[in-house]
Amino acid sequence: MHDLPSTRRTVLFGGLSAAVSMGSSETAQAESQVAETLIRRMSLEEKAGQLSIFPAASASTAAVAANPSSGAPETADEQAQAVREGRVGAVFNGSSPAWHRCLQETAVYESRLKIPLLFAADVTHGFRTVFPVPLAEAASFDPDLAERTARAAAIEATASGIAWTFAPMVDIARDARWGRGVEGAGEDVLLGSRFAAARVRGFQGTRGLADPTAMLATPKHFAGYGAGRGGLDYDSVDISERTLREVYLPPFRASFDAGALSTMASFNEINGVPAHANPWLLKQVLRNEWGFEGLVVSDFTGDRELVEHGFAADEREAARLALLAGVDMSMASGLYNAHLPDLVRSGEVPLAAVDDAVRRVLMLKQRLGLFDDPFGRFRPADAERGDRPSFQPLAREAARRSIVLLQNRGVLPLAKAGQRIALIGPFASGQRHLGGPRAVFGDPGYAVSLEEGMHAAMRPPAALAVVQGCGVETPLDGGVEAAVAAARAADVVVLAVGEGENMSGEAQSRTSITIPEPQQALIEAVAQVGKPMVILLKNGRALALGGTTARAEAILVIWHLGTETGTAVADILFGNHSPSGRLPVSFPHDTGQSPFFYDRKPTGRPTITGQTGEAYKARYREVRNTAAFPFGHGLTYGDIRYEALDVGGGKLPWNGRITVAATLRNAGGREAVELAQLYVRHRAASTTRPIRQLKGFKHVRLAPGASARVEFTLTRHDLLFVGQNLDWTVEPGLFDVWIAPSAETGLKGEFVLRAA
Ligand code: BGC
Repeated sequence: MHDLPSTRRTVLFGGLSAAVSMGSSETAQAESQVAETLIRRMSLEEKAGQLSIFPAASASTAAVAANPSSGAPETADEQAQAVREGRVGAVFNGSSPAWHRCLQETAVYESRLKIPLLFAADVTHGFRTVFPVPLAEAASFDPDLAERTARAAAIEATASGIAWTFAPMVDIARDARWGRGVEGAGEDVLLGSRFAAARVRGFQGTRGLADPTAMLATPKHFAGYGAGRGGLDYDSVDISERTLREVYLPPFRASFDAGALSTMASFNEINGVPAHANPWLLKQVLRNEWGFEGLVVSDFTGDRELVEHGFAADEREAARLALLAGVDMSMASGLYNAHLPDLVRSGEVPLAAVDDAVRRVLMLKQRLGLFDDPFGRFRPADAERGDRPSFQPLAREAARRSIVLLQNRGVLPLAKAGQRIALIGPFASGQRHLGGPRAVFGDPGYAVSLEEGMHAAMRPPAALAVVQGCGVETPLDGGVEAAVAAARAADVVVLAVGEGENMSGEAQSRTSITIPEPQQALIEAVAQVGKPMVILLKNGRALALGGTTARAEAILVIWHLGTETGTAVADILFGNHSPSGRLPVSFPHDTGQSPFFYDRKPTGRPTITGQTGEAYKARYREVRNTAAFPFGHGLTYGDIRYEALDVGGGKLPWNGRITVAATLRNAGGREAVELAQLYVRHRAASTTRPIRQLKGFKHVRLAPGASARVEFTLTRHDLLFVGQNLDWTVEPGLFDVWIAPSAETGLKGEFVLRAA
């Protein structure tokens, strides 16, 4: 390794770099001077290199498995040589700080222009410490929690030199068949936007991007990726501009308003034009309308995939279309390296377009402090901790607050002592299936299993019997018999069933959002024994829980909770804490209702109850078109009553505000944290409005017997929608309003928004 000079900047870049002590406008000027000087000196090949990002050689097996092979330089030697020759601007998903450091030394000491590399990674829900999958964390309905876990992830990841995360995923997910909903914040626009902004703040921190713990955020995938046909990942998106603007774009806007300076194009086409070649999306909306100044990166080989889409005739054309549409950086495909220099020489791509993209890359490297100190994010003291997670208490809190109690017929919380518990199911023990999809960097060996967590909480621990019963998707010889015997010998059965961690995530669409058959057979057999049954439901999406599962005495949704799974589940099961999570996605009765979400239009033939029997109504023959468990639903160990709705006189002046309030009372015997939700419906407007939309939510802690008044304030800005001319607008009129414990219940009133 090379010795680091004490005044690295001056040695590396001569007079090019900006002085750290300058004021902000001077700094911006100096930043742009560095970029301009370099751009003047760069060859076309070096420019294409700055616009190319490749997977790290020497990445962990988990990181390699996260993507298909792309044909990029794969061996360490090939990669180092490419860096030396200036053919690489950034490297991603490497988990070895030593390799990052070695590549950075090659870049800043051995390449002609000494431009530092940018290290990126899919740091989606933790790094060494694995937090709950983002969908689970959204169940906390607490964006501050998401900001704290994102901050922790950034602190751990940046110690390995990583300065850029491909997160948060802010795609609204309304079709539970789509597997990637697990990486986002669920179906709702307001919740999704608040979590998006919080995660951006958390990743980037509050001390500026040059701070060594700041990690540039990448709200992705831009845009409409969650709206693929039939819930099939990568499938085409045929969507109205109104829905795109009203539902899918707001979380992106919220992320950019929170300071995100990069985004990733989505794999899908939108109305016939793939996002990677879509100037309307990447230029008109993103840059012209929103004034975005950051960087657009392709999603993996999304530029090359323009050929498979049938949009580009060949790879050369794909490179041209992507660059001209606004994709600044090409990931993994190598297309920019291969074709941009020639495309510029032939005049098919203007040099200025390439320079603009290079400028954005260089400016970001500047802002991230990489020119000032290319090694600033390598913190050996932290890296020496090896793979050990550093944020267990936060991971436990986040996991606990992500758990949702769907139903409880008095069996929970369980007593810690004096009863025998049988813990049954494919997820009962072992460290697999705890981290969830794309937990690329956490060592599963540090995760606390359900068995370990429950064992540690029980007195005596020997009162816990553990039986696997079946595999995730396969039966196990003698498994059901062993499970039935354990259930007979127990006072209570806890069944850990649902989806394995690889059943959601990228390319994991499902035609049936149910618990796999062998597990259902196990549940049936165990239920026959007749002991009280608690279901611990593992899932990366909303599930349709039919039959016996739905009739269990208690159901806790535990998603994929990460490093502290077992301890957090034990905290809730045994009543150290009351559950407080709420569903960020509606759980339908049946897969056939997909896409099912609460914020839907009324139709001209609405049913009052969603009943199957109502003739000539918008209903299905087989099941009620309601949720089995609605968005926002989740019980506590208290008994919360909603009373005395007060709509503040029922009038919202055009330039004023209205306060909507209710009293929440805990009639139960245990302390609880309740989530009060505010919903609104605009009765008649110039475009049809959904039957309900979430406009606010607040946690209220209530001791047994206590009451509290919860208040929400609305102004006309909370009532904006995309009108007939596709602009955000607000119209006077009558509004229904609810303060509610979920999207299908609550106290209902109304108010009028008066014209100006
Ligand atoms: C995913 C992205 C991810 C990228 C790099 C793609 O397959 O869609 O979300 O950031 O791979 O791993």
